[in-house]
Amino acid sequence: MQIVSPNVPGPREDHRVADAFGRPLRNLRISVTDRCNLRCQYCMPEEEYVWLPRGDILHFEEVSALVDVFAELGVEKVRLTGGEPLLRRGLPSLVRMLAGKPPIRDLAMTTNGVLLAEHAQALYEAGLHRVTVSLDTLRPARFRALTRRDSHQRVLDGIEATVRAGFKGLKLDTVVMRGINDDELVDLIEYGKRVGAEVRFIEYMDVGGATLWSMDKVVSRTEIVERLAEHYGPVTPVVEESSAPADRFVLPDGTIFGIISSTTAPFCRSCDRSRLTADGMWYLCLYARAGTDLRGPLRRGASREEFRSLIIPRWQARTDRGAEERLGLDRRAPLVQIGELRKDPHLEMHTRGG
Ligand code: GTP
Ligand code: 5AD
Ligand code: SF4
Repeated sequence: MQIVSPNVPGPREDHRVADAFGRPLRNLRISVTDRCNLRCQYCMPEEEYVWLPRGDILHFEEVSALVDVFAELGVEKVRLTGGEPLLRRGLPSLVRMLAGKPPIRDLAMTTNGVLLAEHAQALYEAGLHRVTVSLDTLRPARFRALTRRDSHQRVLDGIEATVRAGFKGLKLDTVVMRGINDDELVDLIEYGKRVGAEVRFIEYMDVGGATLWSMDKVVSRTEIVERLAEHYGPVTPVVEESSAPADRFVLPDGTIFGIISSTTAPFCRSCDRSRLTADGMWYLCLYARAGTDLRGPLRRGASREEFRSLIIPRWQARTDRGAEERLGLDRRAPLVQIGELRKDPHLEMHTRGG
């Protein structure tokens, strides 16, 4: 099956490498650190973590060199993630390097917003195009319970600073959990309207790190739509062809919001994303158990050609459809058990980049 998205510019088509299902290698999510300054219940519920060794973390020049390799193979969208990407010192320097690469037409970052007020301006000036901030609640006490940190106001300040710095297309990501924040759907939409951001509701996923996950805490896309329709009136799907994980909807007053239904209605068939961890492991799926080490070859001085012959056959053989496979299971439970996560922190969502 060949999936062609309308937003693919023509001339770069020949560089593109397609996987076993015809999905192009177009989108690279780069985790710049596995550290985080929050402990979100759906991502980092444990007391202790095993961190990647500092010496293994790629330098910005190394990340930049890898992006050049991927760009030659068709990658045109790069998203910086973490952990919390703003914990990586000097991030605007990396942004400047990546923003200066013409094939990268979309350079975005997903952040928890805690440090954003301090960095928004510098990131904008360095050439970052878009920012997505995770915001699961508008209530400070609930934020504290959910993240085990007291930085709610800093996140709200960060969101406002982003708008002030000049960023367009701000998105707010909310993981919806039953009994935790599912009574805030309308409040979050209203907050999004006030700050000019598109709110996206994300179904709670059974990914690595989500050791407290259970199906009864998932609020499905269907239920989210129903609840919003009860309040606002008819909710209409926006018809668009895209490889983005969010399906978009419009409210009667014209407000657009998104739903990322990774758990009940996954979108693997159009997934053009792969992930690079801060220590240079390359993963073909959020749910993949194993990845490819790119740090080793990089530090041994591998040539462009060697990288191409490492990356191309792996992408061409890609059959990953992790979330869809989870859907087929009779009894769903967290993907990875805590013992395994301790042995290989690469299985964690905060290492792999959300
Ligand atoms: P744009 O649409 O380009 O703005 O970005 P995005 O929605 O891909 O990026 P963002 O980091 O905001 O992703 C939102 C959430 O979607 C993530 O935090 C994950 O929860 C989920 N997500 C992103 N990529 C994948 C993926 O490959 N598979 C699954 N199942 N979920 C994903
Ligand atoms: N379910 C859904 N999304 C998750 N994220 C992390 N863990 C989960 C999970 N279990 C995503 C959230 C967060 C981003 C950084 O990672 O969207 O905003
Ligand atoms: Fe929360 Fe993101 Fe940190 Fe995970 S990496 S604990 S989702 S802020």
